[in-house]
Amino acid sequence: MSVGVIVGIQWGDEGKGKVVDYLTQNAQYVVRFQGGNNAGHTVVVDGKKFALRLIPSGILRENVCCLLASSVVVNPWAFLSEIADIEKTGIEIKPNRLKLAPEVQLILPYHQAIDEARENQRGAKKIGTTRKGIGPAYEDSVGRHGIRVCDLFDQAKLRALVERNIKHAKEYCSKVLETNFDINAQEQIEQLLQIAQKLRPFVCDVSRELTAAIAAKKTIVFEGAQGTLLDVAHGTYPFVTSSHTIAPEACVSAGIGTKSIDYVLGISKAYCTRVGGGPFPTEEMGKTGDQIRTTGNEFGTVTGRPRRCGWIDLPLLRRAIRLNGVDSILLTKLDVLTGIDILKVATHYEYQGRTMVEPDWDTDLEKVQVVYEEFLGWKEDISKATSLFDLPVNAQTYLQKIEQYMGCSLSGFSIGPERSQTIVYSNHVREIFGLTK
Ligand code: IMP
Repeated sequence: MSVGVIVGIQWGDEGKGKVVDYLTQNAQYVVRFQGGNNAGHTVVVDGKKFALRLIPSGILRENVCCLLASSVVVNPWAFLSEIADIEKTGIEIKPNRLKLAPEVQLILPYHQAIDEARENQRGAKKIGTTRKGIGPAYEDSVGRHGIRVCDLFDQAKLRALVERNIKHAKEYCSKVLETNFDINAQEQIEQLLQIAQKLRPFVCDVSRELTAAIAAKKTIVFEGAQGTLLDVAHGTYPFVTSSHTIAPEACVSAGIGTKSIDYVLGISKAYCTRVGGGPFPTEEMGKTGDQIRTTGNEFGTVTGRPRRCGWIDLPLLRRAIRLNGVDSILLTKLDVLTGIDILKVATHYEYQGRTMVEPDWDTDLEKVQVVYEEFLGWKEDISKATSLFDLPVNAQTYLQKIEQYMGCSLSGFSIGPERSQTIVYSNHVREIFGLTK
């Protein structure tokens, strides 16, 4: 019926996986369009917890076919082991439910070795990557010597590429990064040739499949990974990931025209978190930050690192809304704020004598003075609310003010990890995603 893109509008971990799971009850496709197994999506269905990394959350819905489009980077070992883990839970993954674009770039062990060595060498200035080899794999892609899924099926080409890339990676590591790694090219090639047979059934021309699905008026959901502020061009560079995380990338990656997208839904937490280094103007270092971390279980799905926690930052959200062309926003984890006496919302910044509702290209986010508006919190348990009007008045005011100051409508909120704890009250969004429940 429609094509929707669901993107994180903070620094990732906004709860996109859970929202995608909820919105795909009647969808036919879920498409991952960037990133790799640096992402971690936790979805709870009937009390059972699923930790997904590479495979779209749609895999938990029988009616959905999951696609990995060309700008995704795939560690083939991680891909196969994630399939095996999901199958252990009783969900069967056949190639008609999971498809992989032939242009997808592979993350290989030498990418991980480089990522690790670089982070170690950066010391205090490290980016705080997930050390999964994401950056080096994207570098090989734009450097035009990456190894793609389709290259696995051409033995001579694969051999030449693996030998060349491992030789270069070893030289770079020993001469520049002052470290060595022990990866044997011949063994790697043999392993990849075996993996090729396992991946072959999943390979699919994603652009053609989606073009046909759009013509047949299917419901298609693009699932973003990481978040807008980690976009390699528009995020808080250099403390970003190495892919484009914003909505337009869905079209580039999938090979569909930009006019195909009907709706962009932005996902933000009711507060803000960040993992890894980089500026975070509204970071709360005190007790309240600790309380949010503990209540919200703010620890990385992939690395287990404690997430930095703070207040919702409207100047950065306004920027993210513009970059993605967000139509409306769903605010997650509102329940985590229960019990905090005073809630803060960053409405604008003061910087070099100026009042800023959105940062400019030359605004140093480490140096802005954040201006907050404070709101009274609530103590009532909100985890069973089924509509906006079930919320305590203070929670309703908190949402209304955020909506008003952001200049973008809220279409729903979530109050817990279960499917029943996502409330989408916008009829337009319900229609777009074909929701019946
Ligand atoms: P990389 O993507 O592993 O290169 O890491 C680059 C930056 O992005 C680091 O600050 C990571 O913590 C952050 N990052 C990568 N993936 C995620 C994610 O899924 N959620 C939140 N942060 C992420």
